[in-house]
Amino acid sequence: LGHAVLRGRKVVVSAGPTYEDIDPVRFIGNRSSGRMGFAVAEAAAQAGAEVTLVAGPVSLATPPGVAHRVDVRSATQMRDAVVAATANADIYIGAAAVGDYRPAEVSDHKIKKRDGAALELSLAENPDILGTLAAQTVRPFLVGFAAETHDVERYARDKLARKGLDMIAANQVGGGLGFEAADNALTLYGPEGAIELPRASKTELARQLVAKIAERYAAVRG
Ligand code: PMT
Repeated sequence: LGHAVLRGRKVVVSAGPTYEDIDPVRFIGNRSSGRMGFAVAEAAAQAGAEVTLVAGPVSLATPPGVAHRVDVRSATQMRDAVVAATANADIYIGAAAVGDYRPAEVSDHKIKKRDGAALELSLAENPDILGTLAAQTVRPFLVGFAAETHDVERYARDKLARKGLDMIAANQVGGGLGFEAADNALTLYGPEGAIELPRASKTELARQLVAKIAERYAAVRG
């Protein structure tokens, strides 16, 4: 990737989990560490892009070369930050594990335990960030991720088509890969078919993914 294949391109990458507050001390989150997305942001910067990294709550340092970092907490905040950052961007890569639901109401005081009684939380659907971008008339080249425990290919192809994406990177979660782990394995789906990126460190996989994105971007938009 020494060829600066993305020089002059603006790339926005989302990474990490989202946290949806229940009350002042509790939230609904997920196991994303941000490692995959941070590696993608670093690889895109190495490829010459001007990178904006929109990060959920993670404990990772900003990778070298990344021009802008915006820290957010909830899916709604992530949507707002991504929409603002992609206003004049060429490529959006959604590596974040965005929470699909949030508590319908956030309590302003700590919810107390009621012995013996079940507690029910009512959840409201969160905005779909990729869906929001896909609906715009002028939209960046859109790359989604798909994290699944089963039927990975079917769900990934379905998301690619339903969300109108240019490419999707699918990962099977579990077995020491995907969330939190240092390694991952990806299958890329796009109009040109499937490309396997076998198990490797997230750093290495991110370089391969960014090279494929740059190739495809140049073919359709370059
Ligand atoms: O962070 P790590 O610990 O390194 O783990 C990496 C990872 C497993 C989180 C990453 O590789 C990954 O797969 N990220 C996407 C996880 C996910 O939430 O997948 P999904 O199938 O729920 O979502 C599909 C796509 O839609 C994703 O690009 C997601 O960013 C996007 N999405 C989802 C929900 C939503 N409301 N808005 C979205 O844009």
